[in-house]
Amino acid sequence: MTTIYFDTHLGDEERRRRLYTGDIFVFSPRPSTQALTEFARELIEEAFRPLDPQRAQDSLPVEKFVEIVGPLKPRFIHHPRTLDLLLALLRDLGAEMEKTYFDVPRLRVATSGGYLTAGVAYVLHPHRDIWYSSPPCQLNWWLPVYPFESESSFAFHTRYWKEPVPNSSHEYNHYEWNKVGRASAAKQVKADIRKQPKPLGPLELEPELRVVCPPGGLILFSGAHLHSTVPNESGRSRFSIDFRTAHLDALASVGGAPNIDRHCTGTTLFELRRASDLAPVPEEIIRLYDPNPPADREGLVYKPPAEAVPASGT
Ligand SMILES: [Fe+2]
Repeated sequence: MTTIYFDTHLGDEERRRRLYTGDIFVFSPRPSTQALTEFARELIEEAFRPLDPQRAQDSLPVEKFVEIVGPLKPRFIHHPRTLDLLLALLRDLGAEMEKTYFDVPRLRVATSGGYLTAGVAYVLHPHRDIWYSSPPCQLNWWLPVYPFESESSFAFHTRYWKEPVPNSSHEYNHYEWNKVGRASAAKQVKADIRKQPKPLGPLELEPELRVVCPPGGLILFSGAHLHSTVPNESGRSRFSIDFRTAHLDALASVGGAPNIDRHCTGTTLFELRRASDLAPVPEEIIRLYDPNPPADREGLVYKPPAEAVPASGT
């Protein structure tokens, strides 16, 4: 059973407990979420000007589209204002800032009609985020920048919450992915050759659960949910923001959602920062997830934009 909570009154702890059982939380647009999506919209529209970003794919050769989206993504991800808005959002939604670790928000685009399905607009096959070396307690925060439809959403495949899926996550090492994958994403226009963890056999994807909310709304769910990008048939490119969090108590107890079919190596924990002061995840916690972390951390560690570090930061 999956419960969807709308605009819950539950506090952070109870919300997390329910997220770890597969429940999904949806929030209406509110000033803190809208501030983040509005800022993303400004950057997107600046990059595509004079075209309408949702329709730009109708008049641009795909290579030109990639040329625009390639630099747009890091501009949003690493912008100091993005960090400020993300922290304000977490605070507003009741996250326990001293124990919540987060990573930089991603900006994603899902073009319509198979215009671009690789690299910067990779269409995600059914997967659990935790197959990509995330901790089982990872929570995903997802926000649409423009109105979208069921035909341009993503789907949860809820029957697999408790049912293992044979998959190739044993071939996924996060450090390798960081080194090779991201750098080449911008170059991959027609086909994607990055080694993604995938289901190894046929799946019963129905019943699918899709959630559609207005721009600036928020869908919060466990990174252990099996989910996939719906092939966009809406006629418009879909732009969305997502980021991940993990709570210290769940990290320390290696708790969170059921961990039933995850065989990847390495950990994403180097990329997370504490919401209260941007401190990294303590080394002893990281070693619970990777007993032999690499000595060379270059490229693994998230570096916040210097001007955005709060005065109270370490
Ligand atoms: Fe995902």
